[in-house]
Amino acid sequence: MSFWNRRKPVDVAAATDAAHRLKPTLSWPHLVAMGVGAIVGTGIYTLTGIGAGLAGPAVVLSFLLCGVICACAAFCYAEMATMIPAAGSAYTYTYSVLGELLAWIVGWSLILEYTVAAAAVAVGWSAHVAEFIQAAGWSVPTPLLHGVMAGGVVDLPAIVIATGVTALLIIGTRESATVNLILVIIKLAALVLFVVLATAAFDSARFHPFMPYGFAAHLDADGVKRGVLAAAALVFFAFYGFDAVSTAAEETKKPERDLTIGIIGSMVLCTTIYMAVAASALGASYFGDFSKSGAPLVYILNGLNHGMAAQVVASAAIIALPTVILVLMYGQSRIFFVMARDGLLPPRLAAVSRKRGTPVLMTSLTGLVVAVLAATLKLDQIALLANAGTLCAFVAVAASMLVLRVREPDRARVFRTPLPWVIGPVCIVGCLYLFLNGLPAFTQWWFLFWNACGIIVYFAYGAWRSRLARAEL
Ligand code: ALA
Repeated sequence: MSFWNRRKPVDVAAATDAAHRLKPTLSWPHLVAMGVGAIVGTGIYTLTGIGAGLAGPAVVLSFLLCGVICACAAFCYAEMATMIPAAGSAYTYTYSVLGELLAWIVGWSLILEYTVAAAAVAVGWSAHVAEFIQAAGWSVPTPLLHGVMAGGVVDLPAIVIATGVTALLIIGTRESATVNLILVIIKLAALVLFVVLATAAFDSARFHPFMPYGFAAHLDADGVKRGVLAAAALVFFAFYGFDAVSTAAEETKKPERDLTIGIIGSMVLCTTIYMAVAASALGASYFGDFSKSGAPLVYILNGLNHGMAAQVVASAAIIALPTVILVLMYGQSRIFFVMARDGLLPPRLAAVSRKRGTPVLMTSLTGLVVAVLAATLKLDQIALLANAGTLCAFVAVAASMLVLRVREPDRARVFRTPLPWVIGPVCIVGCLYLFLNGLPAFTQWWFLFWNACGIIVYFAYGAWRSRLARAEL
């Protein structure tokens, strides 16, 4: 059988975890909280500034565009997650529908979604720590607060948080529903506080011109890609994490109702919050100023003489962002785990420590990569690369949904994507468009390089050792 046709049967994929089925205890409010907990992070707290620098006030359109594309992706995820309620997310769905080679490419790209995104959130966290330190009047040399690519020497806070979260994962910490709920409330309350204070200083004149860099992405003379679409390819980062909700499919009481409301509800809520935050930021301060700050919301509040509120927002980010890193790194460990179980990665890598009950080696390696990336690179470089991997995963999930609709139209579906032939193609075309036109060439090349390395690893190992390959012998 060729690598293309080697597919994990849908029923087998769905049944893999049947022996360890989890108790259905969750309902849609839990899922909305889980979604918002995983979604709201560095994207809104930090990238709003850089995004505004690329699109001007029209960055609110970038947020809207990403919200629509991600809502379409969320529908496709919901259909696939309820049909194949097994760990592995986009990788597992692709394996069952599009075959092993494409599944490998998706799994390899998901490393960017999870590990690289965790590094980006660590850098965003560090920017808020730096603001906090500065406001408190403590003296820490600035070069120790920024990576070498961001004009510093090493981003120490980012290393601290990456190491701390890795240690928690090794001990066996999972985000608890109660802690998550408290953190969601803190994150949202800080954003609401920001919107209220910033709106009081709203000046509509700051929205003119609305689209100073136009809609389409284009390369400016300084080598920066600008335009609404270029900003969308960056702030896209702010929306993902909702696939974490799809991994809870197995634990929902009424999957159809709970997942639909959980996934779509968290997307609508996040898009609304993001647009409100971006619009109030743009109305309260000139985008050219706050776009240079690593903590734009804190910067704007300081500029409006709300020093106390600025510290509250910085503290909320410092308290709440680490769970986003935790969720991302945990998600990564599940993907690696399933890939190793399928024989595409060496099982030793994902071996669970008998003493701790967690995959220590793999978690440590992931933590090391997150720390190194976060300690050295610039936030937008990391976020864009993470987006490249995520866009690829979304295309694969939407394509899997459509292919399965044609191949097995009568298969029972707990949740059916409404208007699949509109939603699926909008997701695929939207993601491909953002990838090809929005992302800078630099990111596209890195993504290709990353996947070229992945293909070499696949043919050196997984192509011959996967469970399905061995079953063929
Ligand atoms: N959506 C997540 C964030 O913005 C990854 O931090």
